[in-house]
Amino acid sequence: MDHLVSPSLLAADFGNLGKAVSMVNQSLADWIHLDIMDGVFVPNISFGFPVIESVRKVAEKPLDVHLMIVDPDRYLQRFQAAGASNLTVQYEACIHLHRTVTEIRNLGMKAGVALNPHTPVSLLTNILPYIDMVLIMTVNPGFGGQSFIMESYNKIKELRSMIDARGLNILIEVDGGIDTSNASDLVSAGVNVLVAGSSVFGSANPADTIRRLKTLG
Ligand code: DX5
Ligand code: ZN
Repeated sequence: MDHLVSPSLLAADFGNLGKAVSMVNQSLADWIHLDIMDGVFVPNISFGFPVIESVRKVAEKPLDVHLMIVDPDRYLQRFQAAGASNLTVQYEACIHLHRTVTEIRNLGMKAGVALNPHTPVSLLTNILPYIDMVLIMTVNPGFGGQSFIMESYNKIKELRSMIDARGLNILIEVDGGIDTSNASDLVSAGVNVLVAGSSVFGSANPADTIRRLKTLG
């Protein structure tokens, strides 16, 4: 299948979010990535339900919501009500991960599990049949604009083999330090979804950068 592009609004101008969402609507992007940070799981605070709801009203593409929060089980239903189509939780924040991803699916959302850079993909062996997506963090979560961690390639290749060997239908998403210089190598390594924040919104022509990430041209 063709890979997907999910621009991260974390790098957009929050004073003009509506404009950023219309740009994404009119671009070749597939999803809109929303980063929720609680100041506890990560050393940063981003935004919450009112912002997601406002984005939902103008967005014409599915909302790909990435939770960097402790105890996400408390809020799964509220993220669904706010408009999330995909809900990704951090592996490190979930004590009862099977319960969490099952609840996400029962609420009608795609369930994703994100791994911090130091968390091995082998820890996912027994949860893979119950999820729709794995998000490999290719930087330490919490901030946009950081450098891509090269060891991520080994994780992507190992996870791609694990998924294919079992014939599972699970998307591999990468997030952090993604730009037009590494997009093509990442897709070749087995990635299905590219998240990009600063490389899109920090560029002179964000819609064209999205086009380049999508067409790898
Ligand atoms: C970081 C977030 C990312 C962030 C990526 O914790 O999960 O989604 O927006 O930003 P860039 O693309 O600038 O590395
Ligand atoms: Zn993210």
